[in-house]
Amino acid sequence: MAMVDSVTTLPERPRTVTAQPKRRRRLVVVSNRVGPVEAGKASEGGLAVALRAALEQSGGIWFGFSGTVSKQPTETPHQTTVGNITWATLDLTKQDLDDYYIGYSNRVLWPLFHYRPSLVEFSRRALAGYQRVNDLFARALQPLLEPDDLIWVHDYHLIPLANALRRLGCRQSIGFFLHTPFPAAEVMRLLPNHRELVAELCAYDLIGFQAHSHLQGFRDYVLRSGGGTDLGGTRLQAFGHELDADVFPVGIDVDNIEGLAAKAAKRSRQMRRLVDSIDDRRLLIGVDRLDYSKGLPERFAAYEYLLEHFPEIRGRTVFMQIAPPSRSDVPEYKQIRRALNHAAGSINGRYAEFDQAPLRWLNKSFNHSILTGFFRAADLALVTPLRDGMNLVVKEYLASQSADDPGMPVLSCFAGAAEELAEAIIVNPYDKEGMAEAIREGLAMPLGERQERWSAMMTTLRRNDTNAWRERFVTALSAVTAGA
Ligand code: UDP
Ligand code: G6P
Repeated sequence: MAMVDSVTTLPERPRTVTAQPKRRRRLVVVSNRVGPVEAGKASEGGLAVALRAALEQSGGIWFGFSGTVSKQPTETPHQTTVGNITWATLDLTKQDLDDYYIGYSNRVLWPLFHYRPSLVEFSRRALAGYQRVNDLFARALQPLLEPDDLIWVHDYHLIPLANALRRLGCRQSIGFFLHTPFPAAEVMRLLPNHRELVAELCAYDLIGFQAHSHLQGFRDYVLRSGGGTDLGGTRLQAFGHELDADVFPVGIDVDNIEGLAAKAAKRSRQMRRLVDSIDDRRLLIGVDRLDYSKGLPERFAAYEYLLEHFPEIRGRTVFMQIAPPSRSDVPEYKQIRRALNHAAGSINGRYAEFDQAPLRWLNKSFNHSILTGFFRAADLALVTPLRDGMNLVVKEYLASQSADDPGMPVLSCFAGAAEELAEAIIVNPYDKEGMAEAIREGLAMPLGERQERWSAMMTTLRRNDTNAWRERFVTALSAVTAGA
């Protein structure tokens, strides 16, 4: 991506091809993180969970980074087919990974898109690596493509991929889905190459966002700073292209999660052990990648505030926070881990008794067969990110509950999921007293009210499950005019 304030260098778009929405076309999904070939392993985040669920039902190719660092650069993907999915994955060199994944994706775009500009470490070298790896992905993917494929690219690592594919002559319809928030236009403008990046985004035929507030940020940028035009409905004209931009909130496989939770309730040894260890106390659960966007220090502070100001809570609740380490090579992630180790030690040091501790801090991951049992055993889920694209954990927690005695989520108003789940207990994660009150409210909520709120949220989850999410996006992508 050039650092010039011009878009005249963007490639010519190929001749317009009219799509044929009736016939089912092969789906080619592209993401940096590709889920494991074996089903049932602990996930590496919401994107991998959502894409596996979506692809298992429709079949197709899943192209991305293999997770392996190679000494020599390569453009030949490894290919494995299991059932109806073909995994095609590419190794990357250490240099490429440092610049593209650590440097630009996770030290620039991730913090900026999550409203943490003070954590952004921009460098032109990382930006060049980002562009280089996107070009490499395009060259490795292009030979696998068939003329009628629908190409669906995912997340902030791969914004320039459509342009890179077009430069190689690809004429297929190409859609993009952003799993993270898209920030308000003024925040976007902090990025030194904001104009080029948004121009790359506008090279897609269809862009999907998790929430209306993210779409709003994008439209504001395009229409006010990008010289774009509103063509009505979802259609925009910007940076020399026409495109559609809309909201497609990611869903979960509700039946699968429900089934796993019901099975865990009958047979899971781990769930039984957890329930026995909690005894007659109330269980609060948090499950998040160990990421500064998840608001863990603020959540710990709210729980500590509760223990300090409401002595009746002491000895009566256990808060279990599961936080598998994530992106451990990125310095900001090392720092948040150290800070949380310290905070966890300090809370337990102050409030633990000889026979119990109020906080369980687990830096490890669990697979869904176990997690769904833990969710079912918990009276409350604390889902309080400072910013989150969607947050699948809150949806999985709800789908794991029993209708007889459902638990309640305490949900941040800054998670994309809050736009859909208004019946949760909604909090501002920057307000520790408000969060402590919300926990007390959740613990005291009568059964009838919990059931009413839970049923309403389950209706929403079923209406927009993973299948509906994929179908809505793919139908919209099939209907676009490629390369307009
Ligand atoms: N997850 C998991 N095991 C763990 C922790 C998390 O399988 O130990 C899964 C979790 O169930 C969810 C995903 O990882 O499906 C996290 O997605 P979410 O959208 O909540 O957050 P992200 O990690 O994508 O920011
Ligand atoms: C979030 C991002 C995904 C990413 C996941 C795990 O869900 O939106 O793109 O795959 O976190 O992060 P990682 O860096 O381990 O892939």
